[in-house]
Formats: sequence, structure tokens, C-alpha cells
Amino acid sequence: MTASEITIRDISFDVSRAPDPAWLAGDVMRTVQTDALAIQIPPGERYFIRSLRRFEREIADPHLVSEIRGYARQEALHTREHERYNDALRAIGEDVDAMEGQVARQLALETPVLSVAVTCAIEQITHACSSVWIAQRHGAEVAQPFRAMWLWHSVEEIEHGAVAIDVYDAVTRDWSGPRRYLFRVNTAAVVFAAFFINWVRFGLRMLRRRQGRLTAGDVARFAWTGLVRPGLGRKVALRNLLYFKPGYRPDDAGSLALMREGRAELEVAVADMERRFPDRAATRSAAAPVAAAS
Ligand SMILES: [Fe+2]
Ligand SMILES: [Fe+2]
Repeated sequence: MTASEITIRDISFDVSRAPDPAWLAGDVMRTVQTDALAIQIPPGERYFIRSLRRFEREIADPHLVSEIRGYARQEALHTREHERYNDALRAIGEDVDAMEGQVARQLALETPVLSVAVTCAIEQITHACSSVWIAQRHGAEVAQPFRAMWLWHSVEEIEHGAVAIDVYDAVTRDWSGPRRYLFRVNTAAVVFAAFFINWVRFGLRMLRRRQGRLTAGDVARFAWTGLVRPGLGRKVALRNLLYFKPGYRPDDAGSLALMREGRAELEVAVADMERRFPDRAATRSAAAPVAAAS
């Protein structure tokens, strides 16, 4: 992505004012599978910002430094809004602190280059989730403000999808090609597995709490929803396989097309949210390309 593709959109969605245990099409199963992603976002994004900014002074390319700053500003706004999102999950009784705490402990490893490789791997997962979300072309079946918020986050994840991998390439420039490749994909294999296990555990935990029970049939329906239809986990896993290609980059033509489609849909979704919640309209600032803002 070019720096001008990374756009700062300071929008307040304040999901905490509209908690909803089945905001995705009234379907608690699909909702918990998306909420199980949301739980991991605040501790994850704080870690990503630290991991990339640690190298800001060592990077000679001013374009990449500008991208890191744009990346950090987008992720900081995501964290702010997702903290409110997780407040909404607390409001319906979820033990958010326990789940966020588990993720924070998993990310306690701050070894500099490894933390960049971990960030690249999780950015791949968020890029894949975002691509799936935009490609599904959700409409009014997703309750506001969740609809506008997930679109906003998805568009921006694709906009900054290549920044972490560009930083990884810069900080490992003295490594041999095979070493750089193996370190990247070996780290990803562990991260993808850990993220998937978190997703299943958190999803089932929230499903049990929201339904007041968890039967074998519920677990089977959870697996069907996640892996078959609509199959969020399967679709993300298939996209993640691309990460194992040597020289992989997430910013291909298909991603750029999806990002532009998502941007157009985001305008519609935010306008709809502002119509429904007019008291929040003033919280939206003008979008600013990071090249002009940093
Ligand atoms: Fe994000
Ligand atoms: Fe991100």
C-alpha cells in the first residue's frame, strides 16, 4: 500500500451504548464467533504498535516510517473503539478481563524481531478476516453500530496490511533469504494455531454463557457454522495458507479491489449509523490521508 492509502478516520461507534448478544443477523452462533475475534483485539493491537514503533528510528526509508506512523494511528483508534466494544460484551455478562488477560500473557514475549514476525502473522489473520467480512457484503442484517464498526476496521486492516511485512523485510535485510522465510513462516505456524485455539475457546465460552448451556449439539453447530457454512474459520484458514508462499505480500490486486469496495460500503454504513444515532454524528472527523497528516 502507498502511504496515501492509509487513511485516518477518527469515528466514534460507541458500541457499548447498544450491547446486543446476537447483533449478527440475530444469530448467536455467528455473533459469538465474531465477538471471539473482538476479545483479542485491544491487547493484540497495543502489542503490534509497540513491536513496529520499536524499529522506527532504525529504518532509513522515510516512506516506511510514514507508514508505521499511519499504522500506529489507525491501530490506536481501533483499540479505543474495541475497548468500548469489549465494554458492551461486559455489559451482557462476558468475562472479558479473563479472556483479554490470556491474550496479553500469550503476547508477553517482546523479543524485537520475533515480535515483528508475530505482528506480521496476526496482521495476516486480520487481513484475511477483513477480506472475508467485506466479501460477504453484509447489509441491514448486521445491527448498527456493529455494521459500521466492523466495516471501518476491515477497510483499515487492508489499507495497512503490508506495513508489518515491510518492517520485517527492513529489519531482517542482513539475513539470508531462506532464514528470513523460515523465521516468518515458522512463527506464523505457531501464531495461527494459538489464535485458532483462542477463537474456539472464547467462542464456546461465550456461547455457553449466552445460551445458559453447551451441549454436544451446540459444539457441532459451532463447528458447522465456523468451518462449513458460512465458514468464517475455513475461509480465513484458506487465505492464511497464502502466507506460506515465498515472497508473499498481502497487497495484491484482489485486496485493493476489495478495499475500494469496502470504502464505498463504509460511507453508506456510517451514514446509516449517523441517521439512527444522530447524537453521535459530531464525533466523526474528516478523513485524512496519513501522508498529509504525519
Ligand atoms: Fe486494527
Ligand atoms: Fe492491523
